[in-house]
Amino acid sequence: MAKRDAIDPANGHEVLENTLGPLAACWGRENGHLAIDGQPLSKRIPQTPAYLYSRRCLDAAVASLRSALPESIGIHYAIKANPFPPLLRHMAGLVDGFDCASLTEMQQASEVADSGQKLSIAGPAKSRAEHRFAIENGITINAESVGELERIMTAARLSGQRARVALRVNPPFALKGSGMHMGGGARPFGIDSEAIPALLEQRAALAEGGIDLVGLHLFAGSQSLDIEAIAATLDAWTELLRDWQDSTGYTPGELIIGPGLGVAYHPGDRPLDLDTLAPAFARLGEALSALGENGGTNIDTRLELGRFLVAAAGVYLTRVVDRKVSRGTTYLVCDGGMHHHLALSGNLGAVLRRNWPLVAADHLDDAASETVDLAGPLCTPLDVLGKKQSLPPLAPGDWIAVLQSGAYGASASPGAFLSRDAAMEFLV
Ligand SMILES: Cc1ncc(COP(=O)(O)O)c(C=O)c1O
Repeated sequence: MAKRDAIDPANGHEVLENTLGPLAACWGRENGHLAIDGQPLSKRIPQTPAYLYSRRCLDAAVASLRSALPESIGIHYAIKANPFPPLLRHMAGLVDGFDCASLTEMQQASEVADSGQKLSIAGPAKSRAEHRFAIENGITINAESVGELERIMTAARLSGQRARVALRVNPPFALKGSGMHMGGGARPFGIDSEAIPALLEQRAALAEGGIDLVGLHLFAGSQSLDIEAIAATLDAWTELLRDWQDSTGYTPGELIIGPGLGVAYHPGDRPLDLDTLAPAFARLGEALSALGENGGTNIDTRLELGRFLVAAAGVYLTRVVDRKVSRGTTYLVCDGGMHHHLALSGNLGAVLRRNWPLVAADHLDDAASETVDLAGPLCTPLDVLGKKQSLPPLAPGDWIAVLQSGAYGASASPGAFLSRDAAMEFLV
């Protein structure tokens, strides 16, 4: 077979070696096979379709973020990015707390977290059961509206316990360059920033109603690869906090900040360079410690994020079932598809579908000599795994590995669609 001199830069091979950067050490190559701990993935995993997550990659991702953060800023893992229980147990040994989005996530987090780890719940339509569980377990409720504050007071009264509450702020700005805007303009998430000072003035009334206002939840967007925009957003948050301290005398005891760190999923995406971002984190730490001193409080600050911690730690593995040519286009039809990996098919929030980094898991040393489309098993044209992708010639039985697949995969896909089997998940 030809050697890999002619690797197409738009293809996953390049991403494997360059985009993963320090994480490439987790997914290695062994005699042309994509490997983990020196063993080909296709030998390590009994079947496809499957997700495989690497503990070592998770460790590396959290360590790389920690090394860019001042010691005063902790890390909360947003479970929604990947709630696979073994992965969650592993994350519990790495992070300082968890962000939950449902009763089930709170229960999962409570099972794995130790007493020093903080939990919070966000989401614009929390149920009574969610409020009750949070209150009874000391979980911070990120309040998304004035109406929710009233419901929390009722829940606190009924359960006879006080509620830990952070006000979730809908800022006057969005995180620029983010794939998903969660702030700026009109949003169902959080309380508009202009309404926050009046609420802060009502701290005593909230306290009387059973609410301990422990701090603020700041989240402006996610999936940004724009370092300047991320830094500017962090600066803008501290400016808002300074304004509110000046106007209301309020200094939050706790802050949860979503930095929106993105993942390089597509050819041409440049992965975030944490060394370049580190000064912005340092500035954040310094600004908050100055605010804290000014307010006589030590502001307990955590970054809340999901995909950045887990995306590179996961690969989605699928096998070629059929190879066919239709009017000049070669299709590799695979056993995995959008019912397991909606984002790969371009149907999870993408305006236009773009290819993902994928590789022929057992042919890494073979030249990418043909251009193919990859389709999944569902009877819909939406079930796309790749378009015009350069790969070595593959046949039924060959394995494809989709990289950067550890976040928003199995749990963010329509698994019941067409009633096909779920993807197996493994943590090694
Ligand atoms: C409130 C909240 N926190 C955290 C996250 C995690 O975002 P990401 O996985 O992009 O870090 C999200 C994503 O939508 C969110 O809405």
